[in-house]
Amino acid sequence: MQIKKASFLRGAVGPSQYPDDGFPEIALVGRSNVGKSSLINRLINRKNLARTSAQPGKTQQLNYYAIQSDIAPFYLVDCPGYGYARVSRTEKEKWQAFIEKYLANRVPLVLVLQVIDIRHEPSKDDIAMFNWLMDQDLPVAVVATKADKVPKGKWQAHTSKIMRALDSPKKPLIFSAESGIGLDQLKDLIEELVEP
Ligand code: GTP
Ligand code: MG
Repeated sequence: MQIKKASFLRGAVGPSQYPDDGFPEIALVGRSNVGKSSLINRLINRKNLARTSAQPGKTQQLNYYAIQSDIAPFYLVDCPGYGYARVSRTEKEKWQAFIEKYLANRVPLVLVLQVIDIRHEPSKDDIAMFNWLMDQDLPVAVVATKADKVPKGKWQAHTSKIMRALDSPKKPLIFSAESGIGLDQLKDLIEELVEP
């Protein structure tokens, strides 16, 4: 799959702002600062279309990116990161409910990419999110990102740990926004799902 064009559509804060053209949507979920926006930028080969920052907790809406590819048009939906300690509990619960409502009800949603840091054991929030996605019967692919931070010889051990913690038989996709590891695999996966 080749990405032809990518643009920021809008930051949606409610269903009335979701697109109504029915193009497939791929959502990204994960802890704050894990690298969701960086993954999007790498995928669409743009330095900073999806805003990244060293300051976590910046994305507070569903950021829709409209993608034109040689296969089909689709949307990438960057969801607010969870698990950021420095927002109030009521704020957190509000976002959580908002994200869950979107994920559970959104008809054009074809894939949820759950992004996890390959270096660390999945957090409680990661595990809770993964279980919730499974309960909803949503199609999920776990992406173990920041692989450039771990020597290649240790990838296997790290991904096995992630699989054990999530109690998932499926191998995570090993990825790095920094080096581009896993980019082709990610594109292949998306291609399969957005094909008309
Ligand atoms: P929120 O929007 O706050 O939820 O964060 P996010 O998940 O979008 O993370 P973001 O993409 O902004 O990345 C957070 C930090 O991690 C930035 O400093 C990135 O440069 C860095 N980062 C992201 N992906 C990678 C990666 O694959 N390798 C390395 N080394 N750094 C990365
Ligand atoms: Mg982000």
